[in-house]
Amino acid sequence: MPHNSLAPTEYPVHELIARRRSPRDFIITPISQEDLWSILEAARWAPSCFNEQPWRFLVAHREDSEDFERLLTCLVEANQAWCCRASALILCVAKHDYTLNGLPNDWAVHDVGIAVGYMALQAVAIGHFTHAMAGFDKKRAREVCEIPEGFAPVTMVAIGKAPEPDVPLERSRKPAETNVFTSIFGDALNQKV
Ligand SMILES: Cc1cc2nc3c(=O)[nH]c(=O)nc-3n(C[C@H](O)[C@H](O)[C@H](O)COP(=O)(O)O)c2cc1C
Repeated sequence: MPHNSLAPTEYPVHELIARRRSPRDFIITPISQEDLWSILEAARWAPSCFNEQPWRFLVAHREDSEDFERLLTCLVEANQAWCCRASALILCVAKHDYTLNGLPNDWAVHDVGIAVGYMALQAVAIGHFTHAMAGFDKKRAREVCEIPEGFAPVTMVAIGKAPEPDVPLERSRKPAETNVFTSIFGDALNQKV
């Protein structure tokens, strides 16, 4: 799939959304501090329940070999195989409880997900791609990254430039009627426009 190809959407969406994808390979290249911070800044401005901002990001540039290696070795082998060429790796962590009252924050993982989504779009806007991953060893991540109690690893994200042509991807989505309903679960929302 060419570098700038667009998702075949059923309805118009912003070009950033259509261009975003999760590449399965990267060109070995550093990312500038400016670009990496721009991607992190997008995450910073994500909405969150009670503005708790429950996300924590453990970040490694590929040039910071000790940090990069620490994060890389948390990934399962299949992800390490291509993430070793990423420009940066991020371990996304959620704070379980609200800081205000110590009660469980049931939306913490949800809000980390929004922040990762913001990162993905900002990355595309400035010529990079992100790829979120569940395929990593959470226990190992907790140990080697010294994650304290009260925080939980959620996902890892690789950032980089995608090669052109990229590893071909089967990009598809379920039809909307399978997951967009009226107020009755399973009753497909009318798509007549
Ligand atoms: C939470 C989450 C976990 C994922 N885990 C992995 C993973 O471990 N390895 C991988 O190659 N892709 C992983 N992906 C990428 C998905 O496979 C990908 O987003 C999906 O196939 C849709 O493709 P697209 O992002 O290019 O639209 C993950 C995505 C998300 C959001």
